[in-house]
Amino acid sequence: MNLLPIRPDAPWLAPLAGWSDLPFRVLCREQGAAVCCTEMVSAKGLVYGGRNTEDLLATTPQEGEMLEGGSSVTDHPLVVQIFGAEADFMEQAVQILKHRGFEWFDVNMGCSVPKVTKTGAGAAMLRDVPNALRVAEAVIKAAGPGRMGFKLRLGWDPSHEVYRELARELAAMGAGWVTLHPRHAVQGFAGVPRFEAIGELAAELPVPVIASGDLFTAADGIRVLRDTGCASVMYARGALKNPAIFARHLELLKGGGQPAEAFVPDCGDGPLSAQDACDVLDAMPVDRDELAGVIRRHAQLARRWSPHLALLKMRTFVPRYVKSMDGARALRQEIVKCTDWDALNAVLEKYFGAEPETEL
Ligand SMILES: Cc1cc2nc3c(=O)[nH]c(=O)nc-3n(C[C@H](O)[C@H](O)[C@H](O)COP(=O)(O)O)c2cc1C
Repeated sequence: MNLLPIRPDAPWLAPLAGWSDLPFRVLCREQGAAVCCTEMVSAKGLVYGGRNTEDLLATTPQEGEMLEGGSSVTDHPLVVQIFGAEADFMEQAVQILKHRGFEWFDVNMGCSVPKVTKTGAGAAMLRDVPNALRVAEAVIKAAGPGRMGFKLRLGWDPSHEVYRELARELAAMGAGWVTLHPRHAVQGFAGVPRFEAIGELAAELPVPVIASGDLFTAADGIRVLRDTGCASVMYARGALKNPAIFARHLELLKGGGQPAEAFVPDCGDGPLSAQDACDVLDAMPVDRDELAGVIRRHAQLARRWSPHLALLKMRTFVPRYVKSMDGARALRQEIVKCTDWDALNAVLEKYFGAEPETEL
């Protein structure tokens, strides 16, 4: 069996609904992301052949996945994340994915968005551990031991903290890894993640633990690796801010992992709110030339791998990339009005200068 890289020097791109599509994943892989997750895919959507599901599952041989009839390459493994609360649909979803050549899977037990939790899926699964275990048993049986991960939060709320017992059971059932975003579902993204919980889990689980939560810079990731003993880290909003976070992570590790620019939230006396965290992330400086290179490369990849959505996607990604840049507001206003590539390129040239001859 091929093994999935779950090591400090193999940072993951988190599942990011609306964002971790094929072009963005390829961009992150070029920067050093070792494993990428798809956006979450509905198990029912897969079983009933939902319209959006195909776009979410778009991949290429270059991305390292086995396409129907193709051969498996696990240099750049892709993890398909699914969500759903019903064991039979979840099992069928994995069967369908396996049949199509996908090899690695993850169950979303952490999403706190009402659209997902009201169906009993995502973080709502933490409110019904017996059902979560029924689902887990079914999907692990379908995927095979070691091929299924689970992405958890601490619990639904502080009075129902289930991550330890649940993770132990999942590992005993044959889970390949467990990812923990150490907040309660009711917190959304507010408050400071409880990284000690990752340390506890890493010390007691027989399977690798991956850390997620407020890893906004590579230094944050290195610090969590060092402080918790987790097997690897997953970058989410930090990667959306700057996909070069993966390259930085690898550089820091090579240089002995001395995190000079760790993210230390300055939240005054009160707890850090989700908005505070976003403000800190948005205000983090970026290198203009590096950003220009990233944006131009992203546009190339989007045009190649997602042509029908490429322009629209760039109109959403670029404003996120440039948030902390001088002149970002004006740039955003111009980008969202672009209706063709010439217009987009002209805006990029206006703000970042002419494209250099050599491509990234
Ligand atoms: C825009 C957005 C979309 C997300 N989509 C998913 C998803 O599809 N599945 C999932 O398990 N988590 C999802 N998450 C949670 C992230 O994977 C990650 O666990 C969380 O953002 C904490 O990491 P961060 O603070 O470094 O961003 C999403 C988060 C954001 C901000």
